[in-house]
Amino acid sequence: MAVYTVEFVGTGETIEVEDTDTILSRCLDEGIAQEYSCRVGMCLACSAKIIDGEVTQPAARGLTDKEKENYALTCMARPQSDLKLDRGKYPPSIEAEAAVEAGAGDEAAADD
Ligand code: FES
Repeated sequence: MAVYTVEFVGTGETIEVEDTDTILSRCLDEGIAQEYSCRVGMCLACSAKIIDGEVTQPAARGLTDKEKENYALTCMARPQSDLKLDRGKYPPSIEAEAAVEAGAGDEAAADD
């Protein structure tokens, strides 16, 4: 068993996480306000951008293999090295989907 340091950029919060623990479970233990919902790797509510380091997250079914290179679902991700994460960051596909939904609403309002 190895223990790694996980640092959250922006807030500067730092926790120690065993390689057998998920990042989310340690956040909850430490009182860190990490968002989550499903806790089974599907909803992406717990997503964080990987700034530095590596995780293993084979059960993160909400991410494509390519997205797993740059994003961690903290409910599924276990550290494989010291990490720097940016919480509340989502894969571009999700950001684009949200923008389209927001834009569609704005255009409809502008036509009135
Ligand atoms: S809480 Fe839903 S994917 Fe992590």
